[in-house]
This record gives sequence, C-alpha cells and structure tokens, in this order.
Amino acid sequence: MTLDRRFLLCGFAYAIAGMGLGVYMAASHDHALFVAHAHILLVGFVVSFIYALIHKLWLVGAPARLAGFQFYLHQLAALVMSVGLVLLYAGLYPESTLGPVLGLASVGVLIAAVLMAWLVLRSPG
Ligand code: HEM
Ligand code: HEM
Repeated sequence: MTLDRRFLLCGFAYAIAGMGLGVYMAASHDHALFVAHAHILLVGFVVSFIYALIHKLWLVGAPARLAGFQFYLHQLAALVMSVGLVLLYAGLYPESTLGPVLGLASVGVLIAAVLMAWLVLRSPG
C-alpha cells in the first residue's frame, strides 16, 4: 500500500478513536481526558492527514527507506503519545512513570516532522 494511503487510513483510525473519546466525554460530562482527546485528533488524525496530502501532492519519488522510516516513526510516536496521555489523564499511572515515555513520544513526533520537512526540501515535485 502506498504511504499516502497508509497515512490516510491510520489518520482515520485516530479520528474514530478521538471522536469516540469526545462523545464519551460529552455524554459523561467528564472532560478529564480532553488533552488526550485533543492530541489523538491533532497529532494522530490531523497531522497524519496532512502527511498523506504531502505524499500525494509533493513527494513524488521520495527515497523509499527514509519515507518509510518517517511513516513508522510518526505512527509509533503518535500511538505512544495517545495511549500515554489517556493513561495519564485517567489517573491510571503517575506522571513520574509516564513523563519520560511521553517525552520520548514527543521527540519522536518532532523528529518525524523534521524528516517530513527534509523529504519535501529534497523532493523535486
Ligand atoms: C465527535 C466529535 C467530537 C466531540 C464529541 C468532541 C468533544 C469534545 C469535548 C467534550 C471537549 C472538552 C471541552 C472542554 O472541556 O474544554 C473537547 C475538546 C477539544 N476537542 Fe473535541 N470533540 C470532537 C471532535 C474534535 C475534532 C475533530 C477535533 C480536532 C481535529 C477536536 C479537538 C478538540 C480540542 C483541540 C479540544 C481542546 C479544546 C480546549 O483547549 O479547551 N475535537 N472536544
Ligand atoms: C510533539 C508534539 C506535541 C507536544 C509535546 C504537545 C504538548 C502540549 C502540551 C504540554 C499542552 C498543554 C496541555 C495542558 O493543558 O495541560 C498542549 C496543548 C495543546 N496542543 Fe499540543 N503538543 C504537541 C503537538 C500538537 C499538535 C501537532 C497540535 C495541533 C495540530 C497541538 C495542539 C494543541 C492544542 C490545540 C492544545 C490546547 C488544548 C489542550 O490543552 O489539549 N499540539 N500541547
């Protein structure tokens, strides 16, 4: 499957999970998980969707291994960040445990963004 389609489908998975969490928060009148909800949707759905569009529109002939690595890095980091934020804001694990994990996930999301910028810079299209 092409990377643009993979980003798109992963993005929809986050959209469904994040909106599901939003509906749960609204229905339960308990908004404790809103930071997790916001980042599942923004880092998971919106950023994946933007990466899908970048692949479709600007990244013709990008180096396959680097582009593949960038995809897995963003998806892994977004997943760890999403699960970590849910566990943190649900109060299931303390910040002392989750802080380093969330820190690593954040750096992963950041490096994936830098790599995407690099891929766009190097792309002729
Ligand atoms: C089924 C759709 C959705 C529902 C039911 C929903 C529900 C909620 C609820 C209940 C809150 C907490 C409000 C608060 O206490 O301040 C919230 C916050 C938030 N939602 Fe959603 N949401 C939905 C879709 C989305 C989407 C699609 C996005 C972005 C792509 C989004 C982004 C945010 C953000 C950024 C916040 C935090 C706002 C703040 O800083 O106060 N939501 N949402
Ligand atoms: C490396 C990735 C990211 C990190 C480490 C990060 C970190 C944070 C932190 C620490 C907060 C404050 C949460 C609080 O109120 O306690 C926050 C809020 C927010 N961030 Fe991010 N963020 C990241 C990516 C993004 C992206 C990509 C978007 C949008 C596309 C975004 C949109 C927001 C919004 C709208 C809020 C206010 C709503 C909320 O408090 O959840 N963030 N972020």
